[in-house]
Amino acid sequence: MSPITASLNSELIHNSEILEVRELTPRIFRMRFHNSFLARNSLPGQFINIKVNSEYNPLWRRPFSIHQINSGENWADILFKVIGKGTDELSRMNPGESLDFIGPLGNSFTIKPDSMKVAYMVAGGLGIAPMLILGHALLKLEIHPMLFYGVRTESEFCCLDDFESAGIKVHLATEDGSRGYKGFVTALIESTLRDMPSTTGIELFSCGPNPMLLPLGTIADRYNVPCQVSLETLMGCGVGACLGCGVKANQNELKYLYVCTQGPVFNSNEINLSE
Ligand SMILES: Cc1cc2nc3c(=O)[nH]c(=O)nc-3n(C[C@H](O)[C@H](O)[C@H](O)COP(=O)(O)OP(=O)(O)OC[C@H]3O[C@@H](n4cnc5c(N)ncnc54)[C@H](O)[C@@H]3O)c2cc1C
Ligand code: FES
Repeated sequence: MSPITASLNSELIHNSEILEVRELTPRIFRMRFHNSFLARNSLPGQFINIKVNSEYNPLWRRPFSIHQINSGENWADILFKVIGKGTDELSRMNPGESLDFIGPLGNSFTIKPDSMKVAYMVAGGLGIAPMLILGHALLKLEIHPMLFYGVRTESEFCCLDDFESAGIKVHLATEDGSRGYKGFVTALIESTLRDMPSTTGIELFSCGPNPMLLPLGTIADRYNVPCQVSLETLMGCGVGACLGCGVKANQNELKYLYVCTQGPVFNSNEINLSE
């Protein structure tokens, strides 16, 4: 056990059986594993930190948002894109093998059922990962979510059926116009907010690359809509020890907020994403 895992609450340290690894669209995989603790205790926006294997970069784990949980059947899912060696190794794991991870880690999206009437979930690319667990949580609280989901081209969409079968209305945007609105998902959100007679009671929940989250925060301010963003910044230790995941605070450029322990979810006006 590394010094980092030794200092963690033992309930957060897991070795779970992988139940399924499925390629949903090219290079995007869903991994399902058996874990009753995660299935019962994960909140939307939280993540797990996976040890990929003992030879490859043994200290640094790889963070992945919790995508979906099922407390009746005791499983949890992550959704990941193969971009480097760690995610490539993960994609080659098989049912029956065990997954070494810690979690759930981090804070979560804040849901305020008293003041919120409509939740707009805004996902860019792999930012779709935490939106399914969030959508399910909103529906449980009888808040109706809508998904605004942008990718470069149609073949990159995934999990649309999961949202639609849950009763979540999906609005799509592609940069090349191959499906849905042609352009960035931020432009789609802006035109939707512009057409609303009032934006009172609308809240934005988003996850995606920083170049998407930055204009989204500006749009949210323009239409006076609260906006929470989940960041996928590069991480080291994942538990507050290496200070590698700092993002600048908005009000004070000498102050940093740490994605692994203070995030990954922030109010968009709390952080400075322009660098
Ligand atoms: C809180 C959090 C939640 C995340 N959730 C998900 C998720 O649900 N699904 C998912 O697919 N990914 C998610 N990520 C990103 C994921 O952790 C990285 O893609 C993964 O660690 C890459 O590992 P690798 O070994 O394959 O790539 P590496 O070999 O480490 O890196 C390959 C290349 O990708 C770049 N890179 C690595 N990580 C990131 C990153 N976070 N952002 C941008 N570039 C990066 C590296 O600089 C390098 O150029 C999340 C990240 C964070 C911090
Ligand atoms: S990743 Fe090490 S402090 Fe956040």
